[in-house]
Amino acid sequence: MRSRTFRKTKETAMKKNILVLGTGGTIAGAAASSTNTLSYQAGVISIEQILQEIPSLQDLANVRGRQVAQVDSSDMTHDIWLTLVREINVALAQADVDGVVVTHGTDTLEETAYFLNLTVHSRKPVVLVGAMRPATAMSTDGPMNLYDAVVLAASDEALNRGVLVSLNDTINSSREVTKTSTSLQDTFKSPELGYLGYILGGQPYFYRYPARRHTADSLFEVDSLKELPQTEIIYSYVGAGRGIIDAVVASGAKGIVYAGLGNGGIPAPIQKALADARAKGVVIVRSSRASSGIVTRNGALDDDAFGFVAADNLNPQKARVLLMLALTQSNDPSLIQDFFRTY
Ligand code: SIN
Repeated sequence: MRSRTFRKTKETAMKKNILVLGTGGTIAGAAASSTNTLSYQAGVISIEQILQEIPSLQDLANVRGRQVAQVDSSDMTHDIWLTLVREINVALAQADVDGVVVTHGTDTLEETAYFLNLTVHSRKPVVLVGAMRPATAMSTDGPMNLYDAVVLAASDEALNRGVLVSLNDTINSSREVTKTSTSLQDTFKSPELGYLGYILGGQPYFYRYPARRHTADSLFEVDSLKELPQTEIIYSYVGAGRGIIDAVVASGAKGIVYAGLGNGGIPAPIQKALADARAKGVVIVRSSRASSGIVTRNGALDDDAFGFVAADNLNPQKARVLLMLALTQSNDPSLIQDFFRTY
């Protein structure tokens, strides 16, 4: 499992070649006892060791691992994202790599998945997977989740469905999925729009394709970038003041996602602060702190008059990913609004 290329023998030639990139998380986590599922260290077990402990993976495909990072996903960075997407694009351009699985902490998994959905340029399967229980726990969910992710990455049915997220027997679109529970295994859901399918008995069952543009059809190209534009999220609440917005603008932010109220509503003093930020060239995207639904353009606010962008149905953390990538292309709010309608 350590070699850089897939070895070709009569036996391996019949199977798909799947590269598993390790980035850490609870799936690579260890606790002092098998009953401890809350206090443990994430990102300590190597991807090679994880793969060696699931020999049945090699029945599914020729599986090879590579460690890209070893972090708790709360420490995921833009630098790791840029490394990861380059590794994936290089790997999937090779004829002898059929799919990629990324092991990842669950806390920011949805953001990494959506980032890759917009920046990987391939129709081959890319699947993100994690676990809610550390690898040392009794009934850990990691090995079965990883087994299912390899099933998916090796499946022709997963081609051209964008970057997928698979945990707990379900298949989700990276654009739609979100972590909904702090601690339950059944935490990843795609609110309102639902799962793309299920994995049961070592077989994927798909029911639909994502409708928004992704991967091979995405225009976002980050392979040669050294950094991504500074973009921040600010959350709404009763009595919110403008100080935090002014501080974010002063820190050099190029874009702000405002997690507004209901249909992206913004309290009056904040509207003024965001309008001032816009006048300084900062791109403002209205998202919502409500957990589902669309923020409609010119709905709760006159976006045309303010020069703001409506986030469609992206949650604030995914709206920030798209805004950051949009800012690599343009800072024109009307063009960025088109991106939010398209991706
Ligand atoms: C993390 O996100 O790295 C820790 C939590 C998890 O993986 O479930």
